[in-house]
Amino acid sequence: MVNFPLPRLDKDEELRNLLKKYCRLAPGEIWIDTEKKHKIGCLNASEENEIALLMGKEKASLAVHDPPYNIIAFQKSNTGSFIDWCAKWINVTDRFTKKDASLYVWLGADQNNNFQPFAEFIIMMNDRKFKSRSFITMRNQRGYGTQKNWMSVRQELLYYVKGNPVFNIEHVYTEIPKILKGYYKEVGGRLTENLERSKSGNIRAGNVWVDIQQVFHLLEENVNGCFAQKPLKSIERIINVSSKKNDIVIDFFSHAGTTLIASEMLKRKCRTVDIDPIYCEISIRRLERLRKTGKTGWQNSNPFADEILNDRQLRNYLIEKGIEAPQKING
Ligand SMILES: C[S@@+](CC[C@H](N)C(=O)[O-])C[C@H]1O[C@@H](n2cnc3c(N)ncnc32)[C@H](O)[C@@H]1O
Repeated sequence: MVNFPLPRLDKDEELRNLLKKYCRLAPGEIWIDTEKKHKIGCLNASEENEIALLMGKEKASLAVHDPPYNIIAFQKSNTGSFIDWCAKWINVTDRFTKKDASLYVWLGADQNNNFQPFAEFIIMMNDRKFKSRSFITMRNQRGYGTQKNWMSVRQELLYYVKGNPVFNIEHVYTEIPKILKGYYKEVGGRLTENLERSKSGNIRAGNVWVDIQQVFHLLEENVNGCFAQKPLKSIERIINVSSKKNDIVIDFFSHAGTTLIASEMLKRKCRTVDIDPIYCEISIRRLERLRKTGKTGWQNSNPFADEILNDRQLRNYLIEKGIEAPQKING
């Protein structure tokens, strides 16, 4: 294994060109996994015809989307075009989900710019088939803006449904132990408190999730080069609660392939896309690595470690950029 972190892979064109030759998918292409459970497409989420290539006649029970909400293509002042774009992939999601289906969307609110595009997105959803169910907040350990503002530690997750999809209540328990007594209630003539009445010793996940570790380089699931990776545990919770074994789960913004990995672990079938061939390749490699080693990520190595070791041009470029030279380490 090579101990060699990668920088963000979306911004550096030269590095991207050096990596693209190692990517199996070109735009428009689809990878079907050897065990025929999952599919990954290098496709555009907002283009119905492209997603139709991936889905054929299949329909998903669950959609988990994590769109880029602050990319340069959508200037901060241009929230309108961002929302028009969101409406397109929401409509595509509607077409490729069953009549009873759940939809989860991760979406930020820019506190320095009138909390865009959060409110606009919610209003856009008024005219869609999906109806609101919950507004979940996941707490990050690290935050920003501590000097003259409240530290920002939240990630918003919107939960919508159409029809009457599953909600597997047995999976909503967290690992947080119940410690507070109280909420007294008379049962059979005797005053009881909540600890003795409850079925579980743990707190049920409400719509504020405080028990999920943010991804950072020391975690096994870390995928270097991916700057927006969601914690596996959060996607596992969504999949466990809102789908059944063998159901199809879609994710139109694969990136580090977190929904794919969680689907594999929980025996769902994932159909995922990313517009960027490099993130498609990373998603494929992450699945292959999980199957081969049981590991969920690269911790402080990276998905292109072998190529970096053997491709002098690629390695020299990274060294020139001031990134630590690769070293062989045990493991
Ligand atoms: C915020 S990341 C998703 C993170 C992912 N949930 C994870 O845990 O790794 C957004 C991804 O969407 C991809 N993307 C941007 N525009 C897209 C489009 N029109 N269609 C498909 N993917 C797109 C980007 O390349 C990026 O990898």
